[in-house]
Amino acid sequence: MMIDLVVIGLGHVGLPLAARACEAGLTTAGYDTDAEVVAGLGAGRSHIDDVDDGRVAGMLAAGFRVGRDPSVIGRAATVVICVPTGLTDDGAPDLAAVRAATADVAAALRPGTLVVLESTSHPGTTQDVVRPVLERVSGLRAGEDFHLAHSPERIDPGNRLFGLRNTPKVIGGCTPLCAKHAVAFYSRLVDTVVVAKGTREAEAAKLLENTYRYVNIALVDEVALYCDALGIDVWDVLHCAATKPFGYAPFRPGAGVGGHCIPVDPHYLAASADAAGRPLGLVSAARSALDRMPRHVADRAAALLARPGEPVAGAEVLLLGVAYKPDVGDVRHSPAAPVARHLRERGAHVVYHDPHVPEFTVDGTAVPCAPGLPRALAAADLAVLLQDHACYDTSLLMRAPCPVLDTRGRLSGPHVTQL
Ligand SMILES: NC(=O)c1ccc[n+]([C@@H]2O[C@H](COP(=O)([O-])OP(=O)(O)OC[C@H]3O[C@@H](n4cnc5c(N)ncnc54)[C@H](O)[C@@H]3O)[C@@H](O)[C@H]2O)c1
Repeated sequence: MMIDLVVIGLGHVGLPLAARACEAGLTTAGYDTDAEVVAGLGAGRSHIDDVDDGRVAGMLAAGFRVGRDPSVIGRAATVVICVPTGLTDDGAPDLAAVRAATADVAAALRPGTLVVLESTSHPGTTQDVVRPVLERVSGLRAGEDFHLAHSPERIDPGNRLFGLRNTPKVIGGCTPLCAKHAVAFYSRLVDTVVVAKGTREAEAAKLLENTYRYVNIALVDEVALYCDALGIDVWDVLHCAATKPFGYAPFRPGAGVGGHCIPVDPHYLAASADAAGRPLGLVSAARSALDRMPRHVADRAAALLARPGEPVAGAEVLLLGVAYKPDVGDVRHSPAAPVARHLRERGAHVVYHDPHVPEFTVDGTAVPCAPGLPRALAAADLAVLLQDHACYDTSLLMRAPCPVLDTRGRLSGPHVTQL
């Protein structure tokens, strides 16, 4: 029996896509190499913040099946690849999962199938990495026998206003006919599609979006350091600048950038630019500025602790919000890890509180999880607000019995020091 859609990789991108497809009435299956993910979803348990267990139950009731057998790909009308594109240990783009998923698709590809790469990658990945393998192994031609497109995912975990359905979907086909088939597919799932000239333009658009955030966050981080040196209130500066109704997009400084995308995607763009002999100086400057922030936060914390009678060594520092952004439980590349590392190096006893993160490990050593917020604040010598989760009661934090370093510009009061 044919299946409308097979999603490869059921993570932060693949699972919401599969959920949306089920809700739109498409017969949908998932293929993932992770046994835990497959077992969890099969039992109705979600591992992704934006998709709750009730939604997974709805998917299963609609016929959604998930497994570790790639042969399901051979029954798909459309296959969407949503596997990770991370970095190697030395910081280079890592396409291993895309290559592995492509090999699985190639082995099962049938005439008429639409294949879409959603994983973020450098321009040329769909055309020069995915396409040749699909064609060589299957003996089929893209644009003639099957269709191939790139459609970058723009999902913003935790965003309650914009999700898959109402965020315009950029689509680039290997040929105009490929684009047409991809547009027909995504039009069943999203309100607006935007057709790029080709796959490379769609790939580059995604990298531009995230590099734009990366560079602008680095800019406000540097401005925060500059304002600190001059005794200027950076949060007031940002507030005033953001009242300009045109030509300015607000960004907030903090302990650094995290997650699967913002710290990673600019490396793909930079590596591609380097290979083309057109290095992007702004990206490397931004990286240096961002890399400085965790140490800067630790320095500020140490300065606050180094008051008479409060040495850093042995002091208890409470990190509030160790996820990489507000209101999610994802700690991948979270700046909380280097902040904790720098504080530990100075001898501080680091504990954390984050209702979204049940366990937090840095360099193989678990950071103790503080039991309840009031008790944790009472026990700490210093609290550092890293992520301003909506569930944090700001009045409780502002009345904390210990000093609070606020890296998000949300608190005020005699005990509060802002970044
Ligand atoms: N997380 C985000 O907010 C976000 C937003 C936009 C784009 N993206 C991009 O989407 C892609 C996926 O990211 P993610 O956050 O969903 O990753 P993820 O780690 O949450 O999920 C990826 C899933 O793919 C599975 N997988 C890995 N290799 C596989 C293979 N060869 N075959 C089948 N399954 C495999 C993993 O087990 C995992 O369940 C990346 O390229 C990322 O840059 C992510």
